[in-house]
Amino acid sequence: MKFAVAIDGPAAAGKGTVSKAVARHFGFAHLDTGLLYRAVGQGVLRGDDPVSVAQSLDPKQFDEAALRTPQVAQAASRVATMADVRTALLDFQRNFAAQDGGAVLDGRDIGTVILPDAQVKLFVTASAEVRAERRYLELAGKGMDVTRAGVLADVKARDDRDSSRATAPLVAAVDAVRIDTSALTIDAAVAQAIAVIEKAKRR
Ligand code: DC
Repeated sequence: MKFAVAIDGPAAAGKGTVSKAVARHFGFAHLDTGLLYRAVGQGVLRGDDPVSVAQSLDPKQFDEAALRTPQVAQAASRVATMADVRTALLDFQRNFAAQDGGAVLDGRDIGTVILPDAQVKLFVTASAEVRAERRYLELAGKGMDVTRAGVLADVKARDDRDSSRATAPLVAAVDAVRIDTSALTIDAAVAQAIAVIEKAKRR
């Protein structure tokens, strides 16, 4: 059975948490496509050519902790504006989505560009302030030297860059179901997502 769930939304809206929980619930494979862009951003910080890095990625080799730093996040957001980088990552994402047993992909352009025919599209969002507070607690909890104001500025800078770029900007697909997690617990957000997918599976 081919069944693809596209989950898009801005940074720190909770889409990673929702995606992982949904994948576990339904037994689907999960791909966090942000990690692909982060790996390219990491390569650029090391002085490599972004398109060459994008063409030779091996997600099995990813060091997730090293990819989850604010520096790599900003570099990812910058390489994500490059059309050639996005093209180089396209086939990998589509092949992942086409595997038997179902797949969840989360990112910024999954429902609009990568999988326009996905069986389910969700747009998970929250206010910039709520997202910045969550990201601040996550980074501070890992012992990183961050401030609330700095994290909020970073979140807004990434929102602006991700939403205003010419190629595959962050935007909800017209047929996406919107889940605003500003005032929701994780469990409540996951329950909403599961309900949408259950309904689509019955169709
Ligand atoms: O989801 P994330 O924070 O790990 O993503 C890092 C950056 O990668 C984000 O600022 C924009 C970019 N990105 C993208 O352009 N398209 C995707 N499908 C996923 C991420």
